Amino acid sequence: MINKIELATNKIFDTHAEHIQMIGKGFYGEVYLVTMPQLPYKVAIKLFREQQYAELQRLEQSHIASLSVVPMPKIFGKYFDKKAGIFALAMEYVEGKNLGYTDIATLSRCDDLAEEIADMVVRLHAVQRATFGYLGGKQYSTWQGFYKDLCNQMYKSIKPYSQRGLLSRDRLELLEFSHEHFDKFFAEEVRAASLIHGDLNNENIIISTDEHIAGLIDPMGVMYGDREIELFQLECSNGTDMNLLERYFSKVVPSKNFEMKSAFYKSWAETNHYSRIGKPQDDNLDNFLCQLEFFAKKL
Ligand SMILES: Nc1ncnc2c1ncn2[C@@H]1O[C@H](COP(=O)(O)OP(=O)(O)OP(=O)(O)O)[C@@H](O)[C@H]1O
Ligand SMILES: [Mg+2]
Repeated sequence: MINKIELATNKIFDTHAEHIQMIGKGFYGEVYLVTMPQLPYKVAIKLFREQQYAELQRLEQSHIASLSVVPMPKIFGKYFDKKAGIFALAMEYVEGKNLGYTDIATLSRCDDLAEEIADMVVRLHAVQRATFGYLGGKQYSTWQGFYKDLCNQMYKSIKPYSQRGLLSRDRLELLEFSHEHFDKFFAEEVRAASLIHGDLNNENIIISTDEHIAGLIDPMGVMYGDREIELFQLECSNGTDMNLLERYFSKVVPSKNFEMKSAFYKSWAETNHYSRIGKPQDDNLDNFLCQLEFFAKKL
């Protein structure tokens, strides 16, 4: 891996890496802090397992970073070598620590930081455009039109995942039931196509030593859509302890069916994520699906 980072540094910055340190590892790749003798001196290089994820992050992160409404690291460049299996993106290094892995009891300005985060999410969602859809993807005039297509796509991955025995039959049937009653969940019109980060939880927020937001990283599935699609993530990781959702809704009015829609969004997104990474159903996923079941029974 170190060789790959050395090569990527050389190709992207035309200089050598002085020091390389692994700073993160996730499903999609590994992230390294690289220092070099010339500008920009310190960079983060993310090595992806697959080219498609690297391409996608490059597009999505560049888009959000270029708007300058949230502190998203800019992409300096890429180095892809299919034969050698190198799919590297170099980006601004964000100095600080990962909020999601921080014990919030140790924060001295927890409330103010939580307010900053809620404001940041509101600001992101205030970026809007006329049509709904993924960046560079087919555009739709209604949210329902786009999201229904998206559910059809997710179902193509969820069904075989269940058939492999990784999701119980009754849970698949619950998702199918919600799919059939899609129009009831989404009866209310979504007026604005808002910018969506796609993985907006505290594990993708870096905070500085003085406890301000230093960076918002790792977008995935950036789209213009219903701003409520990603709000369940404010209650993931340690977001609940910071009352992030409540703070967000002190600034923005929820839709009439927010709770019901949110149960749908989180169940479909999480099941789809599990199916993509081949993770068997567990208590976390079940907890989401129970919330969907609660609303499905009321229909
Ligand atoms: N630009 C950056 N500056 C500083 N640290 C970073 C940067 N990018 C990533 N990191 C660190 O590396 C970790 C993993 O990064 P990232 O979330 O992009 O990877 P991932 O493979 O998508 O992980 P996951 O699957 O957990 O989302 C982050 O939690 C963060 O601590
Ligand atoms: Mg991440």
